Amino acid sequence: MHVSIFGTGYVGLVTGTCLAEVGHQVVCVDIDAAKVDGLNHGVIPIYEPGLEPMVKANHASGRLRFTTDAADAIAFGDVVFIAVGTPPDEDGSADLQYVLAVARTIGKHMTRPLVVVDKSTVPVGTADKVAAAISEELAKRDVELRFDVVSNPEFLKEGAAVEDCMRPDRIVIGSPSDSAIAVMKKLYAPFNRNHDRMVTMDVRSAELTKYAANAMLATKISFMNEMANIAERVGADIEHVRKGIGSDPRIGWHFIYPGAGYGGSCFPKDVQALAKTAAQYRYESLLLNAVEAVNERQKGHLFELMERHYGGAAALRGKTIALWGLAFKPNTDDMREASSRRLLEQLWEAGAKVRAYDPEAREEAQRIFGDRDDLMLCDLRADTLAGGVDALVVITEWKQFRSPDFDMLAERLHDRVIFDGRNLYDPEEVEANGLAYWGIGRGR
Ligand code: UGA
Repeated sequence: MHVSIFGTGYVGLVTGTCLAEVGHQVVCVDIDAAKVDGLNHGVIPIYEPGLEPMVKANHASGRLRFTTDAADAIAFGDVVFIAVGTPPDEDGSADLQYVLAVARTIGKHMTRPLVVVDKSTVPVGTADKVAAAISEELAKRDVELRFDVVSNPEFLKEGAAVEDCMRPDRIVIGSPSDSAIAVMKKLYAPFNRNHDRMVTMDVRSAELTKYAANAMLATKISFMNEMANIAERVGADIEHVRKGIGSDPRIGWHFIYPGAGYGGSCFPKDVQALAKTAAQYRYESLLLNAVEAVNERQKGHLFELMERHYGGAAALRGKTIALWGLAFKPNTDDMREASSRRLLEQLWEAGAKVRAYDPEAREEAQRIFGDRDDLMLCDLRADTLAGGVDALVVITEWKQFRSPDFDMLAERLHDRVIFDGRNLYDPEEVEANGLAYWGIGRGR
């Protein structure tokens, strides 16, 4: 099949590449000429395991190409995906200007019947707005052409996006049109081998499914962070509690890890946007607002632990802190809404200096913060400990941070203390090496 994809961000690029990988002919469109030029020359704008070789192989085979020419792409595709960004507005609702601009472009240029697919995470009701924008442009041209707008939300995790796309656990398709659903089934047939992963439904349910999935996962995290904060106070260890509840299959092991709060481009934005949608329908979502509020507070928790250890923020003035991790989670260079950003701001505000290391996010941190006297971005983890450092904070659970040499840390850290924002370490082991240990929800 011929597929056109608008937007070469995470969602568009990964989806387009995976569709090409299974044999479809794919063209990806972006208004950013430099990005398109780079992609045509093998420069992949994001770090995502497995993506680069897949883009290169499919580009070389001619199944995947990149262009800025929207009209060409619309003429090419039987199916046109909208996978552009929906950044949060000032009030937290999703900004649809890019999605609707693509819809208008489709209406301006289409010359035959099309299936238009909303892949971006968009509020309930967006498919209707996309259809209206396309119809409006067709009317201006005085052309009548059939098109269907399908909602097909994505469930990719950063760091595992290629894997999630190639082996989806479900493919949600929302449309009232049997013919559009048939087209989507044909498109996704290669991903649907061993058992049927397609879930078809009406458009609004599909749109809400995406938000419900992310809101549920964010709720699990905030719930566990709330339990962790209670555990800390009552003298319990949330890690035991986690193991004690996860074995109940109704609760499950996933997404019950307490930590420094969730970040990224999805959960914070989607929880707020869904709460906003509810409010627009005159429903105050007490739960979603609480999930968000708990997360906001949690992002400040590591600093609070540091204050407790040092007996106030003032004692942090002049300290040098080693920070392991900057990305909002492992296997990505993404720092959007990362908890590390809040911690850095708090440490700088308190007058501390930071030596930070992240296996992937160094450049991103440099781009965000620029050169500053109170931040050294290190190329090696060992560099964070060189030249006199007072304490270690771990904020992203990269595998390589899991078993450090505690003996060496005890020598290097002047204040002999570790703040473990992801509960990676065994407190007893750390303490046996003569270091103080602070974790999340570990009030033993
Ligand atoms: C999330 C969802 O997991 C995907 O299913 C969804 O498709 C995607 O959003 C999206 O809407 O595009 P992602 O934001 O890439 O994916 O990252 P997650 O792995 O979900 O992690 C989000 C945040 O939650 C991270 O900061 C992570 O550290 C935190 N987290 C996760 C916890 O604090 N505890 C946990 O138990 C799990």
